[in-house]
Amino acid sequence: MMSNLNISRRKLITFSSVAIAGLSVNQLLAKAYAQEVQKSISFSLPMLDKVVTPDATNPVRLNFNENALGMSPRAKQAAIDAIPKANRYAKAEMPLLNKALAKHHQVVESQILLTAGSSEGIRSTISAFVKPDTQLVIPELTYGDGEHFAKIFNLKITKVPCLTDWKIDIAGLKKAVEDYQGFSIVYLVNPNNPTSTVFGINEIESWISSKPRNTIFIFDEAYAEFVNDPTFESADKFITQGYENIVLLKTFSKIHAMAGLRVGYIVSTEANIKNIEQYVAGEKLNYCGVCAALASINDTQYLTYSKKVVDVSREIMEKVLSELGLHYLKSETNFMFHKVPIKLNDYRELMKHKFILVGRDFSPATNWCRISLGTPSEMLYIANVMRELREKAMI
Ligand SMILES: Cc1ncc(COP(=O)(O)O)c(C=O)c1O
Repeated sequence: MMSNLNISRRKLITFSSVAIAGLSVNQLLAKAYAQEVQKSISFSLPMLDKVVTPDATNPVRLNFNENALGMSPRAKQAAIDAIPKANRYAKAEMPLLNKALAKHHQVVESQILLTAGSSEGIRSTISAFVKPDTQLVIPELTYGDGEHFAKIFNLKITKVPCLTDWKIDIAGLKKAVEDYQGFSIVYLVNPNNPTSTVFGINEIESWISSKPRNTIFIFDEAYAEFVNDPTFESADKFITQGYENIVLLKTFSKIHAMAGLRVGYIVSTEANIKNIEQYVAGEKLNYCGVCAALASINDTQYLTYSKKVVDVSREIMEKVLSELGLHYLKSETNFMFHKVPIKLNDYRELMKHKFILVGRDFSPATNWCRISLGTPSEMLYIANVMRELREKAMI
């Protein structure tokens, strides 16, 4: 975390465009942040200390929760080396990835199913559990793919209102299941998107272990590797304990920075995997993606670095939001959710005018904005833009 940086440097962040010895405050800060995160790794960083100067064709993209760093150098090389072989299907490599993931989650290989990103995981799992009279139960504010695919299958969609600050109402979800006669698919995103907040597994443990009839729980943990909250626990523990009512979805798109290579996977019981397997494209996963994922999965140096950079970027964002008095939720991922003082569309336009792309409208949280955490240099840029807009009384 940035806490190792000395106070005087941290104070610099409050000045916007002062020049010291020919270097702007942003340059100095970006260098300091880069040096700080560089300490933990041996490979060279992709220019974290570069001052960001976006334009219309090259904006700062903080709208899709992508990982701004680029993938691990080892993963990148593996993808490059795979290109000449990509006329083939990844038949030899997919089992290797399967094996590595089984080891990672302490399950057997038949409990892992590779998917083209976790989007395919969401779609295939919902397809596999659709029965007559199935409902999808979700919090009113969550990642949209569950609802999107459920609509395609004509499922009843039950949205449970959230508590204060968009906290997920576990008791409300449970009641929605209990009140329903048919089959329920409960789709839970932890940490949640767009809120970036987590709920404790202890809040839901007794419900899951009571094995409610006609119910399957899908846990989407796309962002779990970014979490700092020490009480956070993955739902994979239920799978290793032998629970049959859990499907866990994971992705290489976020901490591994491989969104464009489309690799994800599912962890569940062997029987559930066999069922879901019927609904995925099977052996036809992206060849370069599989090779990159194999190189990335145990690249602990890169993973530590990827998380640390986000921690630093989050601190920059927290600081400016506090300074401007904009309420935000405690972020446990590579994005933040904060209240906006003007209409969201106008806020997005103001940002766009400064070449920053921020998150879309997440109804019903219409006066909140989701901002992905880019590199520290990108966050310094956006922090200054926000201060400038405040000085002009525009936000
Ligand atoms: C919670 C959540 N699940 C799943 C996805 C889909 O990601 P992918 O298909 O790239 O793995 C996203 C993408 O942003 C997400 O936020």
